[in-house]
Amino acid sequence: TRAAPVIAIDGPSASGKGTVAARVAAALGFAYLDSGALYRLTSLAAQRANVAWDDETGVAAIAAGLDVVFTGDDIRLAGVLVGDAIRTEEISAGASKVAALPAVRAALLFRQRAFNTAPGLVGDGRDMGSVVFPRAPLKVFLTATAEARAERRHKQLIEKGFSANLPDLLADLQLRDARDSQRSVAPLRQEVDARLLETTHLTIEQAVKQVLDWYAEAAK
Ligand code: CDP
Ligand code: CDP
Repeated sequence: TRAAPVIAIDGPSASGKGTVAARVAAALGFAYLDSGALYRLTSLAAQRANVAWDDETGVAAIAAGLDVVFTGDDIRLAGVLVGDAIRTEEISAGASKVAALPAVRAALLFRQRAFNTAPGLVGDGRDMGSVVFPRAPLKVFLTATAEARAERRHKQLIEKGFSANLPDLLADLQLRDARDSQRSVAPLRQEVDARLLETTHLTIEQAVKQVLDWYAEAAK
């Protein structure tokens, strides 16, 4: 049996991957995998269990045992809605620390592949095209300048009613991107077979249309 098609969307923090991936999935009637949420949940669950983010064996056990259910936009951890608890800067930094540990990535691999059901899947993260779904018929590397990304994140947080400060957000984002790009397992980078989508001057709608156009071409 042939696996259902996957659109792999990777890129740095706050580039718009999640927004674009969810809209592309809705347009095609595909499932959507927010792989970053799994690393964020692992970061949160480790913190709650008092397991340090650099304890590879301990964090991998937490990742393997995550009791998580995704329903639409809702995520439940051990039956309880997590909401924005996984979106804080502290948990984001923890996510990128646990994501650098090979045993943690291995523990989350099959859970991610299980999302690949008919009629298809759109997955967003850092290694969708390189590791999790290397045979994806369309791979997109979605990016924007660090300044544009920090501004997007800032606007998103303010709209949700959080306090946020642009210089701190930019610094956090650059630190996390550097850690994600420099790690030895599944580093963030554009794969040779990935299409580059530079969105600094694109609207969300334009970015979604580009991905759908590329997919229509790839599926021919
Ligand atoms: O998933 P990722 O962290 O890459 O980004 P996101 O949460 O999807 O997008 C971050 C913010 O940027 C959201 O509020 C989007 O609405 C916004 N965005 C934008 O303003 N322009 C784009 N071309 C793409 C996203
Ligand atoms: O929304 P944003 O792009 O800021 O982050 P995310 O996609 O939710 O991912 C949070 C962190 O998880 C990233 O900084 C990465 O360290 C890690 N991650 C990863 O290593 N591999 C993935 N496929 C997805 C996320």
